[in-house]
Amino acid sequence: MKLSPKLELAGVSLRDMTEADIPAVDILERRLFPVDAWPLQMFFDELAQPETRRYVVAEVAGEIVAYAGLMCIEPIADVQTIAVVPEFEGKGIGSAVLTELIDEARRRRAADVLLEVRADNPRAQQLYVRFGFEQIHVRPRYYRDGTDALIMRLELNKPHEGDTA
Ligand SMILES: CC(C)(COP(=O)(O)OP(=O)(O)OC[C@H]1O[C@@H](n2cnc3c(N)ncnc32)[C@H](O)[C@@H]1OP(=O)(O)O)[C@@H](O)C(=O)NCCC(=O)NCCS
Repeated sequence: MKLSPKLELAGVSLRDMTEADIPAVDILERRLFPVDAWPLQMFFDELAQPETRRYVVAEVAGEIVAYAGLMCIEPIADVQTIAVVPEFEGKGIGSAVLTELIDEARRRRAADVLLEVRADNPRAQQLYVRFGFEQIHVRPRYYRDGTDALIMRLELNKPHEGDTA
């Protein structure tokens, strides 16, 4: 998988997630999403459906520092999850894994990529806006703690700043 020279120099590598990664991913999941972590089994279920799913991990020195997953059922792709460990935020790793998911959505001929993001997560929202995502809906009190979800959409057939194709 292609990464920017800067990330390669920083020792970051990107590869497909495997079942063997799930215990480590689960530890990160519970740390990064204390309110709405996925149950461990959910990762196994997701990886068991490669015809409609693609999950990646980013590693530094053999440790997983980010993970992300896409579901694609034509014509819609959904970013199922994306996370970078705090110590490695702000280095472009989130952008790299998101780029890989969007490229995968294109390969699978999706027309749109959708995602849900917490209304109180401006950092993630900013990342998505930079990639051309636009807010299309709000799901009031969607999350367990009562926070709204913003639904954002990237139209793949529309030219955007930040496109990789
Ligand atoms: C949201 C999240 C995935 C972003 O990951 P990230 O690796 O920090 O993202 P990037 O580094 O690619 O981009 C983040 C910012 O760092 C900046 N940045 C990118 N490369 C950089 C570099 N080499 N040096 C300094 N800053 C850099 C970017 O400009 C970007 O700024 P922005 O705030 O204007 O978007 C990450 O913060 C995260 O996992 N948060 C917790 C979990 C979460 O909220 N997930 C999303 C659920 S919907």
